[in-house]
Amino acid sequence: MTKSYTNAPGLVSDTRLIDNYDRPIRYLRLAITDRCNLRCRYCRPEEGVPFIPHKEILRFEELERLVAIFCSLGISKVRVTGGEPFSRRGCLPFLTRLRKIDGLQHLHITTNGVKTSRFLDELAAIDIDSINVSLDTLDQKRFWKITRRDYLEAVMQTVHGVLARSIPLKINSVVLKDTSDDEIIRLAGLARDFPIALRFIEKMPFSGTVRSGKLENGNLSQRLKRIFPAIEECTDTLPTTARIFALPGYKGSLGIIQGYSRLFCSTCNKVRITPTGMLKTCLYDNGVLDLKKMLRSGLDDKEIKSAILNCVQNRCVNGHEAELNAKRAKEPSMASIGG
Ligand code: GTP
Ligand code: 5AD
Ligand code: SF4
Repeated sequence: MTKSYTNAPGLVSDTRLIDNYDRPIRYLRLAITDRCNLRCRYCRPEEGVPFIPHKEILRFEELERLVAIFCSLGISKVRVTGGEPFSRRGCLPFLTRLRKIDGLQHLHITTNGVKTSRFLDELAAIDIDSINVSLDTLDQKRFWKITRRDYLEAVMQTVHGVLARSIPLKINSVVLKDTSDDEIIRLAGLARDFPIALRFIEKMPFSGTVRSGKLENGNLSQRLKRIFPAIEECTDTLPTTARIFALPGYKGSLGIIQGYSRLFCSTCNKVRITPTGMLKTCLYDNGVLDLKKMLRSGLDDKEIKSAILNCVQNRCVNGHEAELNAKRAKEPSMASIGG
């Protein structure tokens, strides 16, 4: 079922993406590279994963063409991810060009923050809507243990640089088996002192290693309620992946993203493009359409749109079904998906 909406007077009527469960698709996540300057243990094995050859990665012109196609289908929000987006040369000029695409209203980026501080003036100049920074610990030794690199200071420089420019900031903290209550309290201190949305994330099966198969960090909402008895869940937020909580005296908020439990699939409004140009209609699927092949075999926009519309009509009901259908023996690496 494709549905047509008539736009405001003067604009041509357009076909919008609505899936087979009646979920409108408005959000596109673009993973522009698999490369990264960290080696987070929940994302890739220590020895790394073989880098994808450059010619297999979508070129910026190809990505821009795809974004224009998706925006003509009703996508209004794009989040650029990786790997680490700033590991790809030309990321900033690319973001600047994306900004000019018709229909794209909201542009966001998710970064590990290692190199990001040097780009903040330009990100502010293109009016980036928000920056999400990954930060799992405030302890230097543990930072090394988790990421196998020593860049905590650089990440903190980014965090404070983003705040200084008043760019909306979210911090992503993956909760691991050995994440202590103390660590959670210290991280939450960032949301107490600064206007930061600090989100604790369930670890998902995307480590690029063997399957672990179960949720390893327990029930995050119960844990937050135990540690911070005064927290109140905000129920007036738009449906997103994160559940948000307020705490008296906090400048920011706490949140949880239950990406393993997958409790938010009924309102999922997003699709993804991987660095090699596979369209994913669920984080947990194996990719449902080879967009790179379509682009490189000379298909026109109409043909590509029609293939995208078709995929959106065949979405899985939720991430559990998508994972079951994917029949993977090994966990893929988050770096090849983009989160
Ligand atoms: P906004 O809602 O735009 O702020 O983005 P986000 O929080 O979804 O994006 P971000 O890149 O910061 O990702 C935060 C965490 O949410 C990561 O661990 C993602 O893998 C996870 N995540 C994002 N989208 C989904 C999703 O659709 N399903 C699942 N299961 N996890 C998701
Ligand atoms: N489980 C949950 N979140 C993950 N991320 C990377 N790998 C995983 C995983 N296995 C997060 C990163 C980043 C976001 C895009 O995805 O911390 O903030
Ligand atoms: Fe969407 Fe899949 Fe995530 Fe559910 S698990 S919210 S369907 S991407």
